Amino acid sequence: MAFLELLFPPDDPITKILLRIAQIAERNNVDAYLVGGAIRDRILGHETKDIDVTVVGSGIEFAKAIAHSFRLKKVLEYPRFGTAMVPYHDIIIEVATARSEQYENNSRKPKVAEGNLHEDLSRRDFTINALAMSLNKESLYELSDYFQGLHDLDAGIIRTPLDPVTTFSEDPLRMLRAIRFSTQLGFKIEDETFRAISKVKDRMVIISQERITEELTKILKVPRKPSQAFLLMKKCGLLEIILPEIANLDGVDQKNGYHHKDVFNHSLQVLDNIAEKTDKFELRFTALIHDIAKPQTKRYVEGKGWTFYGHEELGARMVKPLCRRLKLSNKIMEYAEKMTRLHLRPIAIAEEGVTDSAVRRLCVDAGEHIEDLITLCRADITSKNPRKVAEYTANFDRVVDKIAEVEEKDRLRAFQSPLHGDEIMKICNLSPGPAVGYVKRAIEEAILSGEIPNTYEAAKMYLESHKKRLLSEI
Ligand code: CTP
Repeated sequence: MAFLELLFPPDDPITKILLRIAQIAERNNVDAYLVGGAIRDRILGHETKDIDVTVVGSGIEFAKAIAHSFRLKKVLEYPRFGTAMVPYHDIIIEVATARSEQYENNSRKPKVAEGNLHEDLSRRDFTINALAMSLNKESLYELSDYFQGLHDLDAGIIRTPLDPVTTFSEDPLRMLRAIRFSTQLGFKIEDETFRAISKVKDRMVIISQERITEELTKILKVPRKPSQAFLLMKKCGLLEIILPEIANLDGVDQKNGYHHKDVFNHSLQVLDNIAEKTDKFELRFTALIHDIAKPQTKRYVEGKGWTFYGHEELGARMVKPLCRRLKLSNKIMEYAEKMTRLHLRPIAIAEEGVTDSAVRRLCVDAGEHIEDLITLCRADITSKNPRKVAEYTANFDRVVDKIAEVEEKDRLRAFQSPLHGDEIMKICNLSPGPAVGYVKRAIEEAILSGEIPNTYEAAKMYLESHKKRLLSEI
């Protein structure tokens, strides 16, 4: 039994789809192969996201045959690339024509020529993604591994099938993908491959911002230690090209007895800290950028050391152009701007005294994002001194308690009798005037003291049985 057969057991929903595709291939007399991430992820024991199929012959015609057999109407065709997508429940079956691609030197538009399986796999990004599993009857489940992808998966290596300069020049986004896979899988980028990134990095300019941002988003969503990707980007020079605002934080010293890391390393630590707490993209993004104005606001103050007065406000103003350039949504932009502007407020409250009014103002300014803001502030504690960490953490605990306390008070203040004035007037036979307010407050008091529950019926019954006394008190 081929070892892949063990990884694709017959009762597995993905296997069922693959076996149906194999039948369609047989009926249509085409050579079809499962390629790409699905094999990599199976071998690594990760969940299968999408199914990529390569056929020797027309990928588009084969996609139509799949759709027909699965009784699906939707086929998204990309004739220029010889590919088509068939959405099937929550997965996407992508079918491509096996190709030997040649790219024009200064654009990403490929000149596609039909090729065989070996050529197709050789034009792929990394050896771990250049594995193919046969979907053909006589060789079902058989693995084609022309570039030692299995070895690299086992050894944890990211390496290109061809000379890396060629592979990266064909599609420079692959440089970022190398860094993402390395961070996501905990793999090492093989030395020659990494050196090639430094050589080819300037070709990144031919890639659309949408594709770069999509990859950056995947990087920021890496479950643990997304910082690794930024360290690699810094090392090979890609960070200066993609996110110069973050690259500029490198070497900005903030040691003044308070922080011990430069702003770049501090920001990456904040990012990793927040990644432990949440996978929310906008919060992770804000963690990365919240100190972007520190280089511009850095001043030396005698007796205090380095200061960064106003970096939160200037930083907030830098967020908009940055997000526009990255083509992030307005929602993310506004969120990141607000959080950057407010990121010092909780600490200021903790230090200057936790008053009701300061907490209330912060709650109003942060609105629905108050919890995220506190999460960011906690992640912002990167001191190595456990005593200081404990002290800052306790400060935030006090702010959080105070927020809960003030919200509770405000909830009670906003609390209203379930019986409205006009009904009180009807039951008590009153005209509009202060007596109505007196009765209403008495009902509210009965609810707040726990004498009756906070319901319309209970309030009505209470009023009916106490109206004589209440009216006599007025
Ligand atoms: N591929 C490539 N060059 C790219 C993008 C993709 O060679 N710039 C190839 C790789 O063989 C890859 C396959 O196309 O495995 C499918 O691409 P995609 O779905 O983007 O990636 P996956 O490998 O499936 O992984 P992920 O979904 O995590 O990106």
